Amino acid sequence: MAAATKAGAGKRPVAMITGAHVGLGKAMTLRLARDGFDIIAADLSTEILSSLDGAAELKDRKLCKIAVDVRNHDSIKKAVATALKEMGQIDVLVNNAGRQLRAFVVDTKWEDYDDVMNINLKGAYFLSAEVARHWLANKLPGNIVNICSTHSFTGVPEGSVYGISKGGLAQMTRMMAIEWATDNIRVNGVAPATVLTPSREILLSDPQRRQKMLERLPQKRFPTPEDIAGAVSYLANPETLAVTGHILPVDAGLLAV
Ligand SMILES: NC(=O)c1ccc[n+]([C@@H]2O[C@H](COP(=O)([O-])OP(=O)(O)OC[C@H]3O[C@@H](n4cnc5c(N)ncnc54)[C@H](O)[C@@H]3O)[C@@H](O)[C@H]2O)c1
Repeated sequence: MAAATKAGAGKRPVAMITGAHVGLGKAMTLRLARDGFDIIAADLSTEILSSLDGAAELKDRKLCKIAVDVRNHDSIKKAVATALKEMGQIDVLVNNAGRQLRAFVVDTKWEDYDDVMNINLKGAYFLSAEVARHWLANKLPGNIVNICSTHSFTGVPEGSVYGISKGGLAQMTRMMAIEWATDNIRVNGVAPATVLTPSREILLSDPQRRQKMLERLPQKRFPTPEDIAGAVSYLANPETLAVTGHILPVDAGLLAV
């Protein structure tokens, strides 16, 4: 696939991915590198990003590792400033950093509610704002992909806080897309069903629970990290210039039922 063409002549486009060290974030990072992007990999520390070292996809790419805690506004501002100083540009931002919480409504702790919202929603909001401020001030095109969830759209027991945060992220996608529609800034989302990343392997370690999740999926298969990365790649591609404000389910058919 041809890389995004927003970057200046002869320059490779740059994608910034949060939560890049593992799971879906790592798969997206490698896919976008394969598509021709230089990479800003952002995560809680630069040390954990050593999981990307030696990846064949990154061999001929510039890789900038950035520490960011998306719960902290100063950390977000510093990360964007450092990324722009190191790489000169950000063409695509993928808001992937996230946290799950399994808790019934009546058992949910105040602090856990805040933490999930701060990572999944507020962090994505203010990181998007910080990068968009740069795009708007310099009249640059931009592209944001938010990693939502099928729980943005469906109800499930023990998943309320996570689902509310991802529902908010889906609505944030539409709001920002419309606010920036004439500024050449696109905002879209991807809504995965359960993918067996290391964190979800732990959450679904109970075989019965895992089987129940699988049974809900019409295709009777969990999407793979590469399935999700493929959808991100599609939305990051300039061939989808007319696509904005939408959330693409990658859900083995779940939301079609
Ligand atoms: N795996 C699934 O089944 C699934 C399904 C739907 C949506 N999603 C969403 O996709 C994204 C990635 O999922 P995953 O399974 O790879 O998750 P994961 O838990 O394995 O990885 C989350 C990443 O976010 C980073 N992170 C956590 N808190 C952070 C913070 N405060 N600041 C910066 N980075 C932080 C982690 O270090 C990690 O790299 C998440 O947003 C998740 O909600 C996952």
